[in-house]
Amino acid sequence: MNRFTYLYLLLAVFFIHACSTTNTTEQDDQDREVAEQDQRPYQEEIDSLMAEMTLEEKIGQLNLLSSGFTETGPTLQDDYQDMIADGNMGGIFNGFTVEHTRDLQRIAVEETRLGIPLIFGFDVIHGYQTIFPVPIGETATWEPDLIKEASQVAAEEAAAAGVHWTFAPMLDVSPDPRWGRIVESAGEDPLLNEIFGEARVKGFEGDDLKDLNTILSTAKHYIAYSEAEGGRDYNTVDISERMLREIHLPPFRAALDAGAGTVMTAFNEYDGVPATGNQFLFNDILRGELGFEGFVVTDYTAIPEMIEHGVAADEADAAELAMNANVDMDMQSINYVEELPGLIEEGKISEDQVDQAVERILRKKFKLGLFEDPYRYSDYDREEETIMRDDFLELALDISKRSIVLMKNEDQTLPLSREEVNDIAVIGPLADNQYDLLGSWSAAGEYEDNITLLEGIRNNVEDNTNITYAEGTELEFEDYTTDGIEEAVEIAEDADVAVVAVGEGRHMSGEAASRVSLDLPGAQEELLEAVHETGTPVVMVLMSGRPMTINWAEENVPAIMNTWFLGTKAGEAIAQVMFGDYNPAGKLPVTYPRHTGMSPYYYNHKNTGRPMDPDERYTSKYIDEENSPLYPFGFGLSYTTFGYDNIQLGSDEISKDGTVEVSVEVTNTGDYTGEEVVQLYTRKMVASVTRPVKELRDFEKIELDPGETRTVTFDLDAEQLYYYDKDMEYGIEPGEVRVFVGTNSEEVLEDSFTVR
Ligand code: GLC
Repeated sequence: MNRFTYLYLLLAVFFIHACSTTNTTEQDDQDREVAEQDQRPYQEEIDSLMAEMTLEEKIGQLNLLSSGFTETGPTLQDDYQDMIADGNMGGIFNGFTVEHTRDLQRIAVEETRLGIPLIFGFDVIHGYQTIFPVPIGETATWEPDLIKEASQVAAEEAAAAGVHWTFAPMLDVSPDPRWGRIVESAGEDPLLNEIFGEARVKGFEGDDLKDLNTILSTAKHYIAYSEAEGGRDYNTVDISERMLREIHLPPFRAALDAGAGTVMTAFNEYDGVPATGNQFLFNDILRGELGFEGFVVTDYTAIPEMIEHGVAADEADAAELAMNANVDMDMQSINYVEELPGLIEEGKISEDQVDQAVERILRKKFKLGLFEDPYRYSDYDREEETIMRDDFLELALDISKRSIVLMKNEDQTLPLSREEVNDIAVIGPLADNQYDLLGSWSAAGEYEDNITLLEGIRNNVEDNTNITYAEGTELEFEDYTTDGIEEAVEIAEDADVAVVAVGEGRHMSGEAASRVSLDLPGAQEELLEAVHETGTPVVMVLMSGRPMTINWAEENVPAIMNTWFLGTKAGEAIAQVMFGDYNPAGKLPVTYPRHTGMSPYYYNHKNTGRPMDPDERYTSKYIDEENSPLYPFGFGLSYTTFGYDNIQLGSDEISKDGTVEVSVEVTNTGDYTGEEVVQLYTRKMVASVTRPVKELRDFEKIELDPGETRTVTFDLDAEQLYYYDKDMEYGIEPGEVRVFVGTNSEEVLEDSFTVR
């Protein structure tokens, strides 16, 4: 045998071995695939249904259209009912009530070849018809368990009205108050967004989507939508991967870990590629690292908007980009229905890719029980007995009171005494206003159900108390009149106290509502100053969806209540707090800048190489404004006062996977029983990358009677301090960690420990 024959034999043996190994490996893969299949419920039902479906019917499942009960975007497709009947529809959104959902579901189930039921989606953001405070207000309670309950109520009401799926929670960490959608967020801090995102998902989805009081949730907007330059909605976003992973991903990871069943694409780009076609975001991170198995829905017409972004030449291009990013459902553009058949024909997209998307959507429909009974969520009796139930309204009242942040209370102006105050002037464009109290994204909330502030006050005073009212001015940026100010001044002059309700209209924040100024719109400050001029003590009630530059009020008005938009029970809640029936304990989830020009302005900022020093010229500061927050992150007063003392650390050195106990003594040093949110922050003093000067790590809300002292203890794990180092390695480098504990992000006690 010559050496070549020997070599060939050797190669042949190797090849046979390799094949057998490959076969074995393939066998392993198949076994694993089968095992995984078993973990994917309804696989058999899905497979057998899909085996019957034509390509057109499959693509129809990827189509989601609004039936237009509410307007949440620039276009509507009037022929949505025909598309349902043609089998070209997977879901309908912005359509609700039992009657409407039954009508549309009947078309899908009875008029199409396979009768695949529709999924109904809706923006149930802070309540369905019982409207809770806007999310930034809910977050001000710093009580995630309570907000989980609110989400459970929202789910129960929505599910009783034919809704299967909410486009919430919104998880956008929001550092810029010019951006109108800050109202929908849990504020500027990643940890609060994580904790409240998890609470909302658990409230919506419960333990079983088949329960008739749970609905599918949506982790949105994936991702970093809130970093729009200039705070201008839909504007360019350009952040580092480090910022993406440290600030914006954690809330999504928490929501997915809590079971969020769907994810919505953001309108914006990330690293130059619009999210809706971004394979790094969706294939590498969402599906790869986070292992997400639910379905992805685009935001409103986001697929063809990639043409405007300039990354797609036409609709077909845009559809290809989205499908290659594993984006499953097309909201409102009918781009998939129109373009996917051609793309498959041309071999640019495979039918397998469509199958994957269809399977993810069908699995949620099976989990919701829609194939067992497509009408199970559309029951007239349950709708009648569930919506606006008394216990739901009681919860809304409680949460509304807990969302109120007391910003100022000079000389104990508040609480008002029912006995001593006999003449109250109620003034301002938000005083006798039902419509604006619901805030933006108020779903099926009917403002006629609202208790106005004027009504709330009337309901909470002695019969012999004289209440007068004057609107004073309107909620307008322009074309407002000041004629009403004179009347407001007159009633204020005769009163013991003037309650002045000012702020924004509900549509001055929310989507497509960015502002260049955070000032009170129109002549509201003029009204406030005129009433103040009378010498009658003023209680300012601020209603808004974002931080506002109420500098004059902070300087001159003795009492300021920040009431966000508190929803259905707003007026009752504000009045009960105003008269002391509940001692306010809300804390700000966002920083209030002194001037709009300081935005974005947030507590967890970097130190820079020239940190702000008012006495040094060459430091990072504005020369025409005081360089400090008007109100800091975590700020909120009480009718009582609290003292902090004796911060203690359990050890002064821990390992990279160690834990250090941090304790502090909190005393109620005032005259009222009150609640206090004790906040724990840290700072990594030296690292291979710059680190924020403070980062919220934990908090605990406690209640203390006058004179009572309690030791509050936190177990701080080194893992809570992890970050991405200069090589993007996640962990913590040795060195000093400063610890801060206090009543807000500025008034703190300090100590430090070392990580070995
Ligand atoms: C809107 C919003 C999104 C909402 C969707 C459906 O454009 O960006 O948050 O869920 O459309 O209403």
